[in-house]
Amino acid sequence: MKLTYYGHSCFKIETLQGKKIIIDPWLSHPKAPSKIDEGPYDFILITHAHGDHLGDVLKLARSSATEVIAIHEIQQFIIKKGVPKATGMNIGGTYRVAGLSFIMVPALHSSSLPDGSYGGEPCGFVVVLENGFTIYHAGDTGLFGDMSLIGELYSPQIALIPIGDHYVMGPREAAKACQLLKAPKVIPMHYGTFPILTGTVEEFLRELEKYSFKPEIIPLAPGESLEL
Ligand code: NI
Ligand code: MN
Repeated sequence: MKLTYYGHSCFKIETLQGKKIIIDPWLSHPKAPSKIDEGPYDFILITHAHGDHLGDVLKLARSSATEVIAIHEIQQFIIKKGVPKATGMNIGGTYRVAGLSFIMVPALHSSSLPDGSYGGEPCGFVVVLENGFTIYHAGDTGLFGDMSLIGELYSPQIALIPIGDHYVMGPREAAKACQLLKAPKVIPMHYGTFPILTGTVEEFLRELEKYSFKPEIIPLAPGESLEL
């Protein structure tokens, strides 16, 4: 499978069977790469309704070949905006489709729609590919103890976790999150997009020095890919 980072919290996953998934498709941020695959995608996952995560979903989800997966309130909102195919779910559930599993897991954050109304609860996603390869995208979140349940129950091989601080975990919290998740590989996200997101990879690595469990940290520049 191939994972491409588009900066901020946006990742593209290309599966072995050729399915294309994009998570939190904000493609117009200050650090966005010049070359971006605008689809069509098979699946678009949205972790919460903030603009930097809802992103360009309305532009990317123009045909029923693309299925958006999000919490109920976001699904209702984007259907009203004309998205032809959107599946709503809620925290704790698994949606099985096309040989893939999308598990909606908790995130500790807030979520409001562009009009200011309630966007449902924020979430993270565990994505299980056709061959069982498991990826955890934490969404926007603070540290919470139940990350250990996500680690225990789904054993993600790779975790995508925020380190930028201010709105999400900073390096100190992210290092602790690694101890709870026990994923062998970690890609830091949601940092460096704006000056207020001050967390850095260097600080994250320093914080990990406190612990005996040290996952492989794989920082990706926007536009960079990883094949696993
Ligand atoms: Ni947010
Ligand atoms: Mn955010």
